[in-house]
Amino acid sequence: MKQNKLTEIMTYQELYEQSIQSPEKFWSEQANAIKWFKKPTTILSKDQNEYPLWFADGELNACYLALDKHIEDGFGDNVAIIYDSPVTQTVKKYTYNEVKAEVAKLAGGMLSLGLKKGNTAVIYMPMIPQAAFAMLACARIGVIHSVVFGGFAPHELAIRIDDCKPKIIITASSGIEIDRLIAYKPLVDEAIALASHKPKKVIILNRKLGARIPFKKYDVDYDALVYGSEEVPCVPVEATHPLYILYTSGTTGKPKGIVRDTGGYATSIKYSMEHIYGAKPDEVFWAASDVGWVVGHSYIVYGPLLNRNTTIIFEGKPIRTPDASTFWRVIEEHKVNVMFTAPTAIRAIKKEDPNGDFIKKYDLSSLKTQFLAGERCDVATLEWYQAHIPVPAIDHWWQTESGWPMIANMMGVEFLHIKPGSAGKAVTGYNIQIFNEEGEELSANEEGYVVIKLPLPPGTMMDLWNENARFKEGYLEKFPGYYFSGDGGFKDKDGYIFITGRVDDVINVAGHRLSTAEMEEIVSSHHSVAECAVIGINDELKGQVPLALVVNKSGESIEHFQLQHEVVQLVREQIGAVASLRDVVIVPRLPKTRSGKILRKLLRSIADGTDFQIPSTIDDEAIIDEVRTECKNAKIGSFRQ
Ligand code: COA
Ligand code: AMP
Repeated sequence: MKQNKLTEIMTYQELYEQSIQSPEKFWSEQANAIKWFKKPTTILSKDQNEYPLWFADGELNACYLALDKHIEDGFGDNVAIIYDSPVTQTVKKYTYNEVKAEVAKLAGGMLSLGLKKGNTAVIYMPMIPQAAFAMLACARIGVIHSVVFGGFAPHELAIRIDDCKPKIIITASSGIEIDRLIAYKPLVDEAIALASHKPKKVIILNRKLGARIPFKKYDVDYDALVYGSEEVPCVPVEATHPLYILYTSGTTGKPKGIVRDTGGYATSIKYSMEHIYGAKPDEVFWAASDVGWVVGHSYIVYGPLLNRNTTIIFEGKPIRTPDASTFWRVIEEHKVNVMFTAPTAIRAIKKEDPNGDFIKKYDLSSLKTQFLAGERCDVATLEWYQAHIPVPAIDHWWQTESGWPMIANMMGVEFLHIKPGSAGKAVTGYNIQIFNEEGEELSANEEGYVVIKLPLPPGTMMDLWNENARFKEGYLEKFPGYYFSGDGGFKDKDGYIFITGRVDDVINVAGHRLSTAEMEEIVSSHHSVAECAVIGINDELKGQVPLALVVNKSGESIEHFQLQHEVVQLVREQIGAVASLRDVVIVPRLPKTRSGKILRKLLRSIADGTDFQIPSTIDDEAIIDEVRTECKNAKIGSFRQ
């Protein structure tokens, strides 16, 4: 139970009620935990959409809070970042002093290239410390960064370049996928060629791993820029100044640019480190994710550094780098106290090492808590983990939009009983309810839409970049006065919330959020495809994987296997291998309603082999058997065994 500054010791329930009843008081107290250049006097106000704005007149700088503040407090020699890269067999530690020196010079270099507060910069990098340096350098001078996951193909990068119009791109010569060298520079050049907006400069870090680096006139060498630049100080920015834009998949082909503020985010992220993750300053915090995802932003870079933890940048996978012992080796070697990963990573380890033989070889005594998120943690995975590692395994729920957890077991407040299958209870500040289609609150254990009563607490999304109408329509208009999460779920009588999955066309593949609508657009662009449906089907390892059901154009004489191969290749080329589309089934027709809408839920049930009722709106029931036969012939989903 937590000692609250103003009061005595508080239970989770007391703290939660305080946060919902008096949000301004609650969050103004939490805002005192960070150092402001100008303390906010307005705590909670509203923007033009009646949406909450936090700390509007405050001024601060996220890079200052992550680095300079700790150095001023005398902790400059503490280790800020451990770079652990099994793929290059490197372990390197950076103190807060060292990180600040490089970040401040890189920021100086960026200023010399003409960047100014309010400009945007795209960062397209693998899991190396320079990715974090680049983010912090942007924050230092008020440049809004947009990190693009290194596994996305040039087409995806180009979409983001055109949307956020960066003045520069910061990249590296290559990434390494297990044992495969991926040259990034040709991908960046291709993306720039595809995009209508042309960034002025590309800062490129040469990792000297042998990748091809085609030279272009816009190139600037990262090392030379840092070496030749002076350190520059942090620029104070308004609390509402965007710290970053992070694109995530939505229900159309176009990704959504989630805009994050600075003041609310700094406050909530610091709060979450202590109250949710139970991480004390100087402890080692490891989020085994990627800087390209929100987990990387919040819990590889900003959260741990704002909380003065040592964070680990891990360039590897849970398996095959070199084997399923990697996670345990990292925990022992760096004395990790709190860890965060996706359930899919645990499933991958479990598959390779079902009896946990590797685990027994390592000293994991430093570990206090294992957090899991990105997808629902299935009970079998949770039980396997608990059977082999004697620390609480905590499922918790959040989204790119929220930036920090919304449902959890708040380990820094009070450890509550774990209910397998539930992500825990609502986090302080989040008034979470379950609604039916009419916007009425459902009773305990009834499944419906997961919504959150406004105001959302600090740190959640401010808007969608360039798309305020889409922001309002997608999140605020379905249930006025509430944020619509896009997830379904139910709450039990004790207040534990169970997330049952997305209620839209977003799928979760190995913890990666992807849009089936976007895949459909790409598959449909194939010249032999008359129409198609892409759905997410259950997968033992990745949680979900996409399945494309394709209707061939009549008169096209393409062989089925060739069409399947070309469709897979098309998605790999346009989105990236990370989309994990492997299964393409050619069907004679797709089941539709009489008004022509494809019955995707029905298709999912057929492929997953789950029970369903034949929809009364279906135009022709015979199609169900046709699709089932083709899925069976192709041995996909539940027909695989
Ligand atoms: N750059 C280039 N390619 C990438 C990439 C990157 N950064 N990340 C993934 N890919 C590629 C992979 O090489 C693979 O290509 P292939 O089809 O040619 O083999 C494909 O995308 C799919 O990758 P992935 O989803 O990682 O599957 P996998 O089978 O290689 O590994 C897991 C499976 C479960 C081990 C892996 O997905 C994993 O570690 N997941 C955890 C994800 C996570 O932490 N998410 C963050 C949420 S907290
Ligand atoms: P992302 O924005 O990539 O973090 O993906 C967010 C989505 O992942 C959520 O809307 C959920 O559908 C899913 N998700 C994340 N964490 C969990 C969890 N702990 N339980 C169930 N679903 C989750």
